Amino acid sequence: MKSLRYIVGNWKMNGTRAMLNEARAIDRAAARLPRVQVAVAPPATLLFRTREAVEIIGVGGQDCHVEESGAYTGDVAAAMLKDAGADFTIVGHSERRAMHGETDEIVKAKAETALGAGLSVIVCVGETEAERDAGNAEDVVARQLANSLPRSENAADKLSVAYEPVWAIGTGRVPSTEDVAAMHARIRATLVEIYGEAGGTVRILYGGSVKAENATELLAVEEVGGALVGGASLSAESFLAIVGAAASLDES
Ligand code: PGA
Repeated sequence: MKSLRYIVGNWKMNGTRAMLNEARAIDRAAARLPRVQVAVAPPATLLFRTREAVEIIGVGGQDCHVEESGAYTGDVAAAMLKDAGADFTIVGHSERRAMHGETDEIVKAKAETALGAGLSVIVCVGETEAERDAGNAEDVVARQLANSLPRSENAADKLSVAYEPVWAIGTGRVPSTEDVAAMHARIRATLVEIYGEAGGTVRILYGGSVKAENATELLAVEEVGGALVGGASLSAESFLAIVGAAASLDES
């Protein structure tokens, strides 16, 4: 059976309690669209309240620490996310990789810690503009996958991969559908290499400037199992337009 398209909003470092209204509106709409799986990743300060505010949608963290607990001022442990009501966490977002020096090895360790805490994980990968221009995009992403994906038993069952070209994040630029198709095919092949049959069912999300205007086209690409949405997830209206696009595709 083909799994539901998965549309995840990444609020990044945005949102105070007023944002809970957006979460509620997203939740109400998602309840009417059972053929799409919807989730939001609010900032850690809003996780618990978001969980309390919604009924249908998934709620997740944006990052977690490698260690289970300890003297890591300012960091959040996977078990704390779980305790606050998270279903999943994102790890390896390019903003974490670039601004916090997270290597593939760190991302892998975080993914393992999250799985160990009972969370699902979304592992992000993606090339820079220079890497794409040099013709290395697919090899870069395949290497990121080989080194950042968790390998513990049954890891594939609780895993999604988000392909997010760094140059497309927050820029309004998106790759061509041909490039998305080629990359997602390469990601699928790599997942099967790593996990065997289970790698065939891991959802591969596209992320980077997904908006209402391009969502239908991007979500229709072969092997695109959903979207990780940043800027356009900050209002229920713009996020739901993307969720709606996913729902309409499912009907066609
Ligand atoms: P964007 O961000 O939709 O604002 O480009 C996507 C992401 O970083 O996950």
